[in-house]
Amino acid sequence: MEPAIFITFLVFLPLLFILISRRSSKRLPPGSLGFPIIGQSLSMLRAMKANKAEEWLQERVRKYGPISKLNLFGTPTVFLHGPAANKFIYTCSEKLMANKQPASIRRIIGERNILELSGDDHRRVRAALVSFLKPETLKQYVGRIDEEIRFHLKNHWYGNNEIKVMPLMKSLTFNVICSLLFGIERGPRRDTLVKLFEEAMEGVLSVPINFPFTVFNGSLKASEKIKSIIMELIHDKREKLEKNGVSSNEDLIMSLLSMKDETSDSHVLSDDEIVDNIFVVMVAGHDTTSILLTFLIKLLADNPTVYNLVLKEQEEISRGKALGELLAWEDLAKMKYTWKVAMESLRINPPVFCSFRTVLQDIEYGEYIIPKGWQVIWASCMTHMDENIYSEPTKFNPLRLESQATSPPPYSFMAFGGGPRMCPGYEFARIETLTMIHNLVNAFAWKLSLKDNFFGRNPMPVFHQGLPVQIQLKKSSDAIQIYQF
Ligand code: HEM
Repeated sequence: MEPAIFITFLVFLPLLFILISRRSSKRLPPGSLGFPIIGQSLSMLRAMKANKAEEWLQERVRKYGPISKLNLFGTPTVFLHGPAANKFIYTCSEKLMANKQPASIRRIIGERNILELSGDDHRRVRAALVSFLKPETLKQYVGRIDEEIRFHLKNHWYGNNEIKVMPLMKSLTFNVICSLLFGIERGPRRDTLVKLFEEAMEGVLSVPINFPFTVFNGSLKASEKIKSIIMELIHDKREKLEKNGVSSNEDLIMSLLSMKDETSDSHVLSDDEIVDNIFVVMVAGHDTTSILLTFLIKLLADNPTVYNLVLKEQEEISRGKALGELLAWEDLAKMKYTWKVAMESLRINPPVFCSFRTVLQDIEYGEYIIPKGWQVIWASCMTHMDENIYSEPTKFNPLRLESQATSPPPYSFMAFGGGPRMCPGYEFARIETLTMIHNLVNAFAWKLSLKDNFFGRNPMPVFHQGLPVQIQLKKSSDAIQIYQF
């Protein structure tokens, strides 16, 4: 942000807040907007870093109830809490609430990314992504994902006594995305992308002040470089498609480039839209699954009974296959208990901490008004830890999702969002997670190296020590033959 604009903001924003508050103070939700621009952003980011964000939000709910106002990332905001609020947000008309992200996210990822779009534009881009991410397309790639996972285990687990789970899971999910979604071979291009991507993510939830020394500035620079790499990929792949003269589902980029509108014969997505949406899939698809896998590995180490039940299910599947045979779509359907364990892990530690929407017209919610132009924010972890919905919510109990009687009511399990915005990567995440856990429990035993494993949010959970575990390759001849060089 230019200094002159910044100073203008500092002078005029307080006036604007006073005007807004005077206009409708009687019906605005309780709470304070704090200092202009900064508001409660730094306090919330500090709480997230210290893994105290749930407590920070609970304190708000205790003080103000399930609806309160605050100021986050430069925008006046209303925080909503509870299943009724979740339902309200996910079923709200697009004319009232749009999926605008905080300015920091929008500027780093790009204006045309799916998270920013609404109406026909959102439906068009979502349909294009889903046509690759739907089960019918993905089922043919289970073997390819299995191969990528075995390659990872051979290179990073086999031969070691101790590994750090979190960085390895990030590298694994990044490699799977690179291979399957972007068709980028292992090598320098992938390595450069990983580094740039980490830099870009640092400023995703930051105060969007663009001075040379700010985190946000570093993220914008990394984002520009990522986008030029994706644009290069688009050119290479378009050339390949034109040479072959056929459409292709070889990877997500090829699939998006091949898509044509049936009536006009024009491309469904422009090149800029492909760049922004490949970027968003990288963000949405890589860190989320790596965090799920990291927590799962920790929970399985902490809970031997659950580990043994998962192992039993996975050994049963291995018994039905030839030595070294890759997993297939049908095998995943048999991993019902393992997926329940994963869902329970997502309930306790949802990777996405909070989501945002922007209000397009004044909205009446209960006895309050949420003014046009404000942000709405909610956090799935708050619903997941509500003891009125989940008894003993902090307890890891995969069987709570077992029967109709104990399964949560609608809008109470929000790890993948809901409604027309529900995560389109659900199936991809399921394949990747189940395939990794199948390989892991069959081949390795592990235990946590540290008694305390602290993590904070940045905005995704980050284990400070990377979650070190001591590992042992199982003595069975199958494991040795499959996972050694
Ligand atoms: C465990 C893994 C994952 C979790 C927990 C997760 C969670 C979520 C959540 C909560 C949302 C909705 C956010 C909102 O309502 O504002 C979302 C949206 C989205 N996710 Fe995922 N996700 C995961 C994996 C993936 C993967 C693997 C991909 C892609 C390969 C992906 C792509 C997307 C996209 C494109 C959206 C935006 C959808 C839209 O706006 O229509 N996600 N995800």
